[in-house]
Amino acid sequence: MNKTETKQRIEKLKKLINYHRYLYHVLDRQEISEAALDSLKKELFDLEQKYPEFITPDSPTQRVAGKPLEKFEKKRHFQPMLSLNDAFSEQDMKNWLERNEKLLLPKEKEKIDFFCEPKLDGLAIELVYENGILKTGLTRGDGIIGEDVTQNLKTIEAIPLRLEEKENLKRSEAEFIAKRSGAFKVKEIVVRGEVIIRKAEFEKINKEQKKKNLPLYANPRNLAAGSIRQLNPKITASRKLDSNIYDLVSDLEQKTHQKKHQILQSLGFKTNNKYCRSCKNLKEVFEYHRFLEKNREKLPYEIDGIVVNINDNKIFEKLGIVGKSPRAAVAYKFPLKQATTVVLDIKVQVGRTGALTPVAILKPTEVGGVTISRATLHNEDEIKRLGLKIKDTVIVGRAGDVIPDIIKVLPELRIGKEKEFKMPDKCPFCGSKIIKSKGEVVSRCPNLKCFGKQRRYFHHFVSKSVFDIAGLGPKIIDKLIEEGLTQDPSDLFKLKEGDLIPLERFAEKSAQNLINAIQSRKEITLPRLIYALGIRNVGEETAYDLAQQFSSLKNIRKAELKDLEKIKDIGPVVAKSIFKWFKDKRNLNFLEQLKKTGIKIKEQRTKNKEQKLRGKIFVLTGELETLTRDKAKEKIRLLGGEISETVSKDTDFVIAGPPAQAGKEPGSKFKKAKELGIKILSEKEFLKLL
Ligand code: IVH
Repeated sequence: MNKTETKQRIEKLKKLINYHRYLYHVLDRQEISEAALDSLKKELFDLEQKYPEFITPDSPTQRVAGKPLEKFEKKRHFQPMLSLNDAFSEQDMKNWLERNEKLLLPKEKEKIDFFCEPKLDGLAIELVYENGILKTGLTRGDGIIGEDVTQNLKTIEAIPLRLEEKENLKRSEAEFIAKRSGAFKVKEIVVRGEVIIRKAEFEKINKEQKKKNLPLYANPRNLAAGSIRQLNPKITASRKLDSNIYDLVSDLEQKTHQKKHQILQSLGFKTNNKYCRSCKNLKEVFEYHRFLEKNREKLPYEIDGIVVNINDNKIFEKLGIVGKSPRAAVAYKFPLKQATTVVLDIKVQVGRTGALTPVAILKPTEVGGVTISRATLHNEDEIKRLGLKIKDTVIVGRAGDVIPDIIKVLPELRIGKEKEFKMPDKCPFCGSKIIKSKGEVVSRCPNLKCFGKQRRYFHHFVSKSVFDIAGLGPKIIDKLIEEGLTQDPSDLFKLKEGDLIPLERFAEKSAQNLINAIQSRKEITLPRLIYALGIRNVGEETAYDLAQQFSSLKNIRKAELKDLEKIKDIGPVVAKSIFKWFKDKRNLNFLEQLKKTGIKIKEQRTKNKEQKLRGKIFVLTGELETLTRDKAKEKIRLLGGEISETVSKDTDFVIAGPPAQAGKEPGSKFKKAKELGIKILSEKEFLKLL
């Protein structure tokens, strides 16, 4: 390729790359893979290296270029960058409108309609284009003077480096408007908008921070701001920031706010038009506010309210500015996702890697419409940073889909009874000595089986024959332990909807369903409860025998070893293991916690004379038609019968489900019963017997 051909190729590559960038980052569409696009970029880069004279400021290679800065230069804004006043209620909005109407003529008042848009939770920026090329990008600063962060803003693919008509794209009406407005003849175009970070990206970065033992970002806005105010553009580039432009400051003859948005879109900016709405009156504004609030979790980025603009630009101008805000626009916020509450305790949880995470147990409180009872404290340093003590009053916040955390302690409310928290030196689960390596923020339990044991116990606890909690699968249990939401299974009953929502795969509805499922299982029979405790060598049958013999957990606790050994079917090994379990402080504490959650024991004992199956041994085989096997077992035990897993000459009855009954697939139990001449009952016959 000679020099002229190279120049042509460079031009074509730039155009093509820009076209796919626009599709992908602005319109959320894709025609070629990222790998193919990278390949085109690489070719462009190589050609430009060969002929640096062909490098232009709008070349895609110039997005991540330049050396780290010493400091940001300060620059004056084209016009002051104002801020918005807040409204929190419908009444606030009515007052806002009334105040404005008083300043208008009757015929202007009649003309009022509104253009509403999502209020993005990010960092405000101003972009200046000269002859269609991005020249300067500024932060808001004090509103008059901002910081020049051009180099960093260029790394954001949603921001065009050059404004142009998209000839390859379908011509939309919006483009037509832009052309007519003569946008490209205007030497300087100034626009404003927001740098944002998508929730998914926010979570990804925080996960990486956690892995590296670095402090977490409190919310997407902090992360966006931190990324833009980076002196090294390479770091900014690694953050995958996004941007939305909502204001056209230059005069391109736009008559309404809505038109501004259309023009911005036609110039190639990413706008939020899909979620914006024109509203004729406040009633429609309120509807839109409710709609967005309900659907905000579904948006890929955080919003904290809506911005309501009086649509007509002449009226907007006339209403002017009061303080630092335009009168004609207002930020109508959603209820805050923050609340104050008390830290009742700080518990420590062991995760998959052995990392110990302190978790604040909160007096349940409502934050952003859902109730939460836990907040992550990440690590010991975070507790120090916050200056948090047990029993402190704190501000908790929920930033999108992350586990709620404590934003601030309110030491002013202390009464002197607050307690310092100390990280334990032994693992609260397995007793292993805790390790904290030099320079590490995280303490760890070196016993890798520790997490494994815990989760197996949880699985047992929620399984069908114990608490029978539907929808609480192994994946969710792992997450709950990992995030420190549950330390022992009694914590399951303390969970609130808002504790679950931040976990992957939970929406408000599914969180509510699971909480309901858990709460509906608070009543349990004594045998099941004993079986739930996971005492070594105590299976369903022994649990049942213990319940029969002692009729309460309190009595079992008081029992001497010899009392336990006396029970039929309980040998010395089993007796010892029960005895030991009830002597362990940690277990007694667990029982105490269970009691506190309001677990109720279902009365099930029948009088001796009503125990008509006393001494009879039953074996179940096959699926029953109406009863579950667990229910059938419970019924037998209630009447004094016993369950066995194997058929022997001691068996009195075998209860067989339909397949075995029909003789289709007689299982081994069925065959054996026939051989030994044991009475085989259908479910119907069994129920009759009862
Ligand atoms: S219009 C006079 N529209 O909210 C300021 N602002 O105090 C006009 N914001 O700093 C801004 N989304 O960073 C407008 N759709 C939106 C917005 C928005 C977020 C931010 C902006 C500004 C703050 C208002």
